[in-house]
Amino acid sequence: MTLDTVDSTNAEAKRLAAEGEEKYPDGTIIWAKEQTDGRGRRGRKWHSPPGNLYCSLILRPDVPLAKAAELSFVAALAVFDALGAVGEPGHQVHLKWPNDVLLNDCKVAGLLLEAETSGGEIPDWVILGLGVNVGVFPGDTDFPATSFRAEQWPATEVDFLESFCRHFMVWSGKWLEDGFVPIRRNWLQRCHGLGEEIEVRLDNETLKGIFTDLDEDGALVLKTADGERRITAGDVFFPQG
Ligand code: BTN
Repeated sequence: MTLDTVDSTNAEAKRLAAEGEEKYPDGTIIWAKEQTDGRGRRGRKWHSPPGNLYCSLILRPDVPLAKAAELSFVAALAVFDALGAVGEPGHQVHLKWPNDVLLNDCKVAGLLLEAETSGGEIPDWVILGLGVNVGVFPGDTDFPATSFRAEQWPATEVDFLESFCRHFMVWSGKWLEDGFVPIRRNWLQRCHGLGEEIEVRLDNETLKGIFTDLDEDGALVLKTADGERRITAGDVFFPQG
């Protein structure tokens, strides 16, 4: 479904998903040209003027909620591959924990996974929201951002979305067949800062330490001076230089 404008494709996807699987089955895509109330992780706004890609997939995986959360890493791998397919040579693409994608060390895409359960272990639906800076990027973010246009990439929203969908089918098939092990391994091979000192900003504290691993639950493992920490929500920054 394509919309000229919407509050948030994630919000719209949730409304549609609630109408039932017959009407909106697994794999339904909601794509909007702009969002008036785009949402990011940790309650932040997602700057959503025309010119970028804003889309959400309705997913109905038959797995428990904790396992469904792995889909954000599955999707990050698909974004990585799609960037490789539509991008120009000579650029660096990396994944950044938990769900960001970097182009030349600046954020170019973000993922927002939301789910609904009505009591049971299996979610009724999972919404995978994806925002990609194609034409524009916000200039006022804590972590620097970029766009395809700023990097002189001619690829359009449609080019990227088509490629993303193809790669998401491949990675989600692998995930369904072989589980999180290959997803985690591939994510670690493509991420930024592994084995290096990073800063992680949590709600009430900022930690510094060596980023040593992604654990089997998708938590970031940080070796700090006070011992090992497993982080499930936070923002990662890399020291300059
Ligand atoms: C983040 O990095 O904070 C995640 C950003 C996710 C943004 C996308 S844009 C499409 C979908 N609809 C939303 O409101 N948010 C996601």
